[in-house]
Amino acid sequence: MSKLWGSRFKSATSQVADKFTFSIAYDQRLAKYDVLGSMAHAKMLGKCRIISSKDSSAIVNGLQKILKQIESGSWKFDPKEEDIHSNIQTVLKKMIGAPADRLHTARSRNDQVVCDVKLYCKENIYNLILGVSALQRSILKLAKANNDVIVPAYTHLQAAQVVLFAHHMLAYVEMLERDKTRLSDCFMRLNFLPLGSCALSGSSLPTDRNYVAKELGFTQASANSMDSVSDRDFIVEIIADLSILAMHLSRMSEDLMLWATKEFDFIDIDWSFCTGSSIMPHKKNPDVVELMRGASAQFPGALIEILTLLKALPLTYNRDMQLDKPVLFRSVEAAIDMLNVFSELFANIAIKKENILKRLEADESFFSVDIMEYLIGKGVSYREAHDIVGEMVKECLDGGILLSSLSENQLKKFSKHLNVDVKKLLNPKMSVRIKKSFGSTNPEMVDAQLARWHKILK
Ligand code: ARG
Repeated sequence: MSKLWGSRFKSATSQVADKFTFSIAYDQRLAKYDVLGSMAHAKMLGKCRIISSKDSSAIVNGLQKILKQIESGSWKFDPKEEDIHSNIQTVLKKMIGAPADRLHTARSRNDQVVCDVKLYCKENIYNLILGVSALQRSILKLAKANNDVIVPAYTHLQAAQVVLFAHHMLAYVEMLERDKTRLSDCFMRLNFLPLGSCALSGSSLPTDRNYVAKELGFTQASANSMDSVSDRDFIVEIIADLSILAMHLSRMSEDLMLWATKEFDFIDIDWSFCTGSSIMPHKKNPDVVELMRGASAQFPGALIEILTLLKALPLTYNRDMQLDKPVLFRSVEAAIDMLNVFSELFANIAIKKENILKRLEADESFFSVDIMEYLIGKGVSYREAHDIVGEMVKECLDGGILLSSLSENQLKKFSKHLNVDVKKLLNPKMSVRIKKSFGSTNPEMVDAQLARWHKILK
């Protein structure tokens, strides 16, 4: 173990200070990206004749060996090293000797660390988007398998109107699609290479930063060295994006939890995704979905943490920024876990069609808006139609009468525009079929949306 800055120091650092300042325990996750960044940097140094091509090749070959070990899982980080950058440097020196001492030319850990983190984010944004797509596909599959099912939909958690179950599922798919676009927006904004900005002011050596940018798959080299080493906006953005994604997963969990209660009893979550109670032998609890809701709490917590960490930092690099990593890694790893679990869970949901149908049959108030629009179609104003249907619902509920049992004469008491043909509206299938507006729950439109999503997600 050797510190990259030891020579100027008059004494060894204290053990408690080391323990407090070392980041190797968590930034070892950056090993692969650190090596990739260093390989591109070393190639550039050789190409620009800042170091000899022999040294450049020796460095690249050494790093290649380290990369293989990392990828095969045989690489072990050294807990006595300060951070991953020092660790790789030490290992390389042991492996190739003197040429390793030229690797850190025209860079500093300030630009190196943010480059590593950006590479980590790029790969993981990609993984997150894949994870969201897998969940969307799983939801789509459930929607397609039940595309004839009609369910009650709620506002204020009070039964409101009926919709196709697939329409409800596609609402989730839409929400998740926005999460993907937020993540890819973030990707676009972070895709500028910080490496070569050095400590903060750049280098007097003739580097070619755009060459490195290309090697590492960045759009181009960043245009301001001070901003490059200070910028952690992309970490805030990812965590904000994940907070929204997790909030979506939590809302979906809440729907599933409600539907799985005996009171609703619309769905069955397979045993493999439930747990029991240690005291109540009859219980089958939806703990996995509950934990999905619970796990979503950490993201807004993380967002506050990263914003608070950054908010008063003067330009440029400050050591506080080291603590951007635990919060980032935690958030990314938790989100990937949650997506994996939820994708599988959706494949383990059974729809209890009969129970849902029973619930629909018991209640004609689902169709009050349909009756209103029937009246509007006959020239009645919206206001008047609302009043008429309100009166009908009140009388029926107070008298314990079904709308469908009203005679033509009784109907006419509410409005001369009401005929017995209005009763054909008191039917879930009719209710979805008569919807015409784009984006509604009309079965043909929902089928078209199912087909559209199938094409997008396949
Ligand atoms: N471990 C440090 C971090 O994560 C690396 C950069 C250290 N730079 C420095 N000037 N001390 O931020």
